[in-house]
Amino acid sequence: MRRPFIAGNWKMHKTISETIDFINQLNNLDLPADKDILICPPFTALNKAQKLVNGTKIKLGAQNMHFEENGAFTGEISPLMLKDIGCEYVIIGHSERRHIFGEDNALINNKVKSALEHNIKPVLCIGEKTEQRKAGKTKDVVKNQLLECLEDIHNITKITIAYEPVWAIGTGVNATPEQAEEVHAYIRSLIAERYNKEAASALRILYGGSVKPENVKAIMAQENVDGVLVGGASLHAEKFFKLINFDK
Ligand code: PGA
Repeated sequence: MRRPFIAGNWKMHKTISETIDFINQLNNLDLPADKDILICPPFTALNKAQKLVNGTKIKLGAQNMHFEENGAFTGEISPLMLKDIGCEYVIIGHSERRHIFGEDNALINNKVKSALEHNIKPVLCIGEKTEQRKAGKTKDVVKNQLLECLEDIHNITKITIAYEPVWAIGTGVNATPEQAEEVHAYIRSLIAERYNKEAASALRILYGGSVKPENVKAIMAQENVDGVLVGGASLHAEKFFKLINFDK
């Protein structure tokens, strides 16, 4: 039985005071103990966020990191810095990093390896663009991204995969539960082939792309959907609480 995983990717949203408000609101609600709840605020709010989530049911993650520990990389944040600030998770290879900032599978692979070496759990994002889906290439794209991003990684027990079709991110058009399930089942089969059946059945695969309180239940009902990675709807504590309680 895979533990449900509800993750919020705040992207470039929220100041420190807005972060404090959000976490206080969420902590005042009755959070379930049978799910993993993750928030990923911007770097500038992580320090304050860590102090507020410490000892609660909320886990903390960052949205990106460089793979080196330190060096001449102006504007970047290293795994040591994320550990230092108390991040348990890091989102890697989000489609906005790939398509706006030019990250490729080789770079993302380095980041995943580095996160694992520093004992930070990566949430590795993959997903096809609209033209790739229309051309019937969804599975090819997902396979290529998955295998290249996992190259030379022999243990995937600390990794979570997020399937996020680019056409569904921030558009209001979510993948149907059936579309999500088809790709999730495929990802799990690839992991079984590349690793083994046990690793595949333990792996959590999140769906991301226009998840909201109205559609989360149907998406989570799919056999191979183990959680959701949410942008827009994760910015409001009440909406996020509803997502966490998808089964209520
Ligand atoms: P969205 O973003 O929920 O706003 O579509 C999801 C994501 O980018 O992780």
